[in-house]
Amino acid sequence: MSTSAKKEPSKEVALKLVHELTQKLNSWADAYYAEDNPLVPDSIYDESLKKLREIEIDYPELKLPNSPTLRVGAKAREQFQKVAHKVPMLSLSNVFSIAELGSFLDRAARHMGSSEAPFPLTCEEKMDGLAISLHYKKGIFQRGATRGDGETGEDVTENLRTIRDIPLKLEGHYPDEVEIRGEVYIELKAFARLNEKLQKEGKKLFANPRNAAAGNIRRLDSSITAKMPLRFFAYQIVSTPFDQSEALKKLSQWGFQVNSHWKSFSDLHSIEKAVKEYEEIRKNSKRPYEFDGLVFKVDSHKLQQELGFVTNSPRWAVAYKLPAIEMLTQIEKISVQVGRTGALTPVAHLKPVNVGGVIVQRATLHNLDQIRAKDIRCGDTVWIRRAGDVIPEIIKVVTEERPANSTPFEMPSTCPECHEKIIATKSQHKCPNTLCPAQALERLRHFASRGAMDIVGLGDEWIEEFFNNGLIKNPSDFYQLKNHKEELLQKEGLGEKSVEKMLSAIEKSKSQSAARLLFGLGINHVGERIAQDLLQNAGSFLDLTQKNSEELVTYSGIGPEIAQSVSQYFSKNEVKKEIQKLQDSGLLAFKEKIEIISGGPLSGKTFVITGTLSTERGIIKKRLESLGAKVSDSVSKKTSYLLAGENAGSKLTKARELGVKILSESELESLIS
Ligand code: IVH
Repeated sequence: MSTSAKKEPSKEVALKLVHELTQKLNSWADAYYAEDNPLVPDSIYDESLKKLREIEIDYPELKLPNSPTLRVGAKAREQFQKVAHKVPMLSLSNVFSIAELGSFLDRAARHMGSSEAPFPLTCEEKMDGLAISLHYKKGIFQRGATRGDGETGEDVTENLRTIRDIPLKLEGHYPDEVEIRGEVYIELKAFARLNEKLQKEGKKLFANPRNAAAGNIRRLDSSITAKMPLRFFAYQIVSTPFDQSEALKKLSQWGFQVNSHWKSFSDLHSIEKAVKEYEEIRKNSKRPYEFDGLVFKVDSHKLQQELGFVTNSPRWAVAYKLPAIEMLTQIEKISVQVGRTGALTPVAHLKPVNVGGVIVQRATLHNLDQIRAKDIRCGDTVWIRRAGDVIPEIIKVVTEERPANSTPFEMPSTCPECHEKIIATKSQHKCPNTLCPAQALERLRHFASRGAMDIVGLGDEWIEEFFNNGLIKNPSDFYQLKNHKEELLQKEGLGEKSVEKMLSAIEKSKSQSAARLLFGLGINHVGERIAQDLLQNAGSFLDLTQKNSEELVTYSGIGPEIAQSVSQYFSKNEVKKEIQKLQDSGLLAFKEKIEIISGGPLSGKTFVITGTLSTERGIIKKRLESLGAKVSDSVSKKTSYLLAGENAGSKLTKARELGVKILSESELESLIS
């Protein structure tokens, strides 16, 4: 065997071998991955792949565009390139009932000046994964990108190449250039195996299959992505004249995986029946993957064109959200967690139960009031609900099943971590000891978290480990870790490479904004928005630290409670020392000058948005904020305007009671203009 490796094949022979091996390896891989039917032992596959790779190294010009060696992943990169989508990647508006679907179709019919609804529709399962766009030129996969904000995504080509459901070369007849869209997802079993493995390795688990898919597609190191069980369903061909039902067939012919459970409909009655069937399928976990709804699309390409879209969702397609899945289980134990502000949160430990494919073992109980309201007790049989990625919720206790000796849940009178006496207020129980180790650890985690300094690659487990060893006590200690490299290298599971990665992530976090730093400090009542508000009023981080509560309370949007909390925080000696250390570490936040906002045509005005609107709320909110307005969640006397869409409920009633001005979308437009 070894002698043959020495003899390089001639180019002529190499050409033949490259074709043969590529073809063989691809068909073996298809049988293995798509049909779960291995045709040859792994060793033969590996050997052939090695041989092909060797030839390709000697004769790079012979490498075929669909070579299986392209699927193994490339080395880590710094960041992803941004990609502007030629055709924006829209999102879908949601309906929750047949009646709402009916209205959606009526609106579409009216738009076309016809009263005939519905027209032929396709119905597909709405995969709960990550939307992806793929570009092919002359049938060869060129580039793939995430949806991003719909306008601009990230170039994740290398990672997508590792997914075997994505053809590197199209089959059959295809346009010269074509863009395909679809969903990257992970099957439920593979998701469970992945999390099991992560758990064994002491790493952070993925919350749900969608996060696992998204997290792995956005990995900078595609050789890791290559090892992940990612799958892809194609569901759209962009800018070609195919009807949707035709497009789905074409996609299969071109070599894509297409979810085969799609159907065609042309009347609401049969849709209603089918929706019930899909609900059962989902509830009984009959699919190997998770789907959170159905997508109805107007089949005709011509009608789609006529219908067009509103702001950022098409008039020709809609998502039908299926109801959350509810299951029965039992509470085995109720424990109490201490958060970073000392607040105690009860957590129910459940007998593991499969809720629509995801094993649920815990549910947060928020606070004592909620427990009392539902009278939740240890040992109770309860209904739990999981909707999408939301943390499962206990909806109801089956009191008939309650054990005879059960007693109502009581909060502990001392902190479970530091044993300090708990202080109980209206609805909150708090450990008042700011030196409580549980709080300190949570504060560190918060500082490093995504919305704050975003120290990527420093997982919760390592923070806990470093905290327990005394390597990190305060946030500023993160920036000293580089002086403890030897100690880090001694830890099991931390090699040279991971330590380098960790330290460079920490260094990188030094350039985070002042708002993130302020939020990251975890001051009571200072969330992301308030942090921004405070800085936009104070002008800089250090200026803010000097303000007393009388000054802070004059800031727009800052009430007495926040003002107190902030000024008290910065007046503490240990905080002053910590801030100095952070500044000495060279955080850019200290140099940032924040533009003090004043003016803006809507400055000083507070808006509340409610009901169904033609534009996504987030977009309206951003627009209002850019004009100087504040957007708040609840209606009060301070609210200047309520923007009310269709089906507005309690907020509208309250606004009427309080005499708050109510605007429709068009009234808002004229107000702005
Ligand atoms: S069609 C304009 N089809 O749902 C067409 N989307 O809220 C938009 N999705 O971003 C997409 N399965 O991530 C379509 N069969 C399917 C889908 C699907 C899942 C996701 C996709 C999209 C989101 C829209």
